[in-house]
Amino acid sequence: MSFLQVVDLTVTFGGLVAVNKVNFGVDHGDIFTVIGPNGAGKTTLFNAITGFQNKVGVINFKGEDISSWRTDQIAKRGIVRTFQHTTIFQGITVKEAVLTGTYKGNQASIWDILLRTNKFKVNEQRLLSKVDQVLEFTGITAFKDDYGRNLPYGAQRLVEIAIALAAEPVILLLDEPAAGLNSAEKRNLSNLIRKIQESGVTIILVEHDMPLVMGLSSSIMVVDHGEKIAEGKPDEIAHHPEVIRAYLGGAAC
Ligand SMILES: Nc1ncnc2c1ncn2[C@@H]1O[C@H](COP(=O)(O)OP(=O)(O)OP(=O)(O)O)[C@@H](O)[C@H]1O
Ligand SMILES: [Mg+2]
Repeated sequence: MSFLQVVDLTVTFGGLVAVNKVNFGVDHGDIFTVIGPNGAGKTTLFNAITGFQNKVGVINFKGEDISSWRTDQIAKRGIVRTFQHTTIFQGITVKEAVLTGTYKGNQASIWDILLRTNKFKVNEQRLLSKVDQVLEFTGITAFKDDYGRNLPYGAQRLVEIAIALAAEPVILLLDEPAAGLNSAEKRNLSNLIRKIQESGVTIILVEHDMPLVMGLSSSIMVVDHGEKIAEGKPDEIAHHPEVIRAYLGGAAC
């Protein structure tokens, strides 16, 4: 069994089957990418895996069935996601925003916080140094005291990834992280995703940018109308007739 095993995953909205009996496995350390046309069910798949969406089917993580777990339980177990549309806090600084991601490392109780105990102070220092480390890793230290609303769009997207990294993911799900980025920002993002993988994190990526997908992915799954239509290595997918028809609009990349 794979590190993450998804079996017959199905999500319906009224009469619409957004994800239809999808099966796949993600191996530890891989960058597993999901591609497919708009409305194919990619974000819904992410929502189902991370507990944001009711579903039918089984999701097995490291041999444990997590299908019925709540979002917070799944995140604490190490399955952490970013969102397709930018959700970063506008009215707090980058440092404060990334601090919100460190909840897993918090060891202070409410009493420690209220009474400002020594444990609270040690805990606070540890979390702040975790934030510094994540900001450095993500390459956004220069923005740490800036408010979310003042950041360039590309930096906002990196902050979202930094918040997710602060939660110490075992599996990181990235929903269209390259959307809206210019080519220099995409190169930077691609290097960052590779660096995250090399640090030992398994990645599940949803992305439309084909050069980025082809350059990074260990394997690719193609979905269309909620169904898996192909799965394979990047070069197999690039030449797969069904994929060229459904996704690439008739032109192999
Ligand atoms: N909460 C919802 N209620 C009803 N229908 C929904 C809901 N969320 C998604 N859908 C529908 O489910 C289908 C899959 O949507 P989804 O957002 O998963 O697609 P996607 O592959 O992520 O598309 P995109 O590439 O545009 O982000 C679409 O037809 C969409 O309209
Ligand atoms: Mg989507």
